Amino acid sequence: MTSATHIPVMLERCVEILGPALERPGAVVLDATLGLGGHSEAFLQRFPEARLIGLDRDPQALEASGRRLRRSASVQRWCTRCTTRSRRCSRA
Ligand SMILES: C[S@@+](CC[C@H](N)C(=O)[O-])C[C@H]1O[C@@H](n2cnc3c(N)ncnc32)[C@H](O)[C@@H]1O
Repeated sequence: MTSATHIPVMLERCVEILGPALERPGAVVLDATLGLGGHSEAFLQRFPEARLIGLDRDPQALEASGRRLRRSASVQRWCTRCTTRSRRCSRA
């Protein structure tokens, strides 16, 4: 992913469909194409108690999403290309 901006597609529909599950205690979001983190950011803003696991094969996308999501607690990002864990982001 080379562009620094990306408009997430069907964002409201995704939140509408997944929202009921994310309201539950202990909810985990697995974003298997994290990209720049637009969908995940929206999920965490609306469901701040949810834990996010983000996967992407593009280390640059993981870096960018990490900057975007760094204020959110309980975010883990993993690179699927090399299967290593990206730097853990934490509010603390
Ligand atoms: C359109 S972007 C996702 C945008 C993201 N949902 C957002 O809101 O910013 C697609 C992402 O999927 C990743 N991707 C595509 N195929 C993949 C695969 N097989 N495994 C892991 N990531 C993949 C790309 O690297 C790219 O970052």
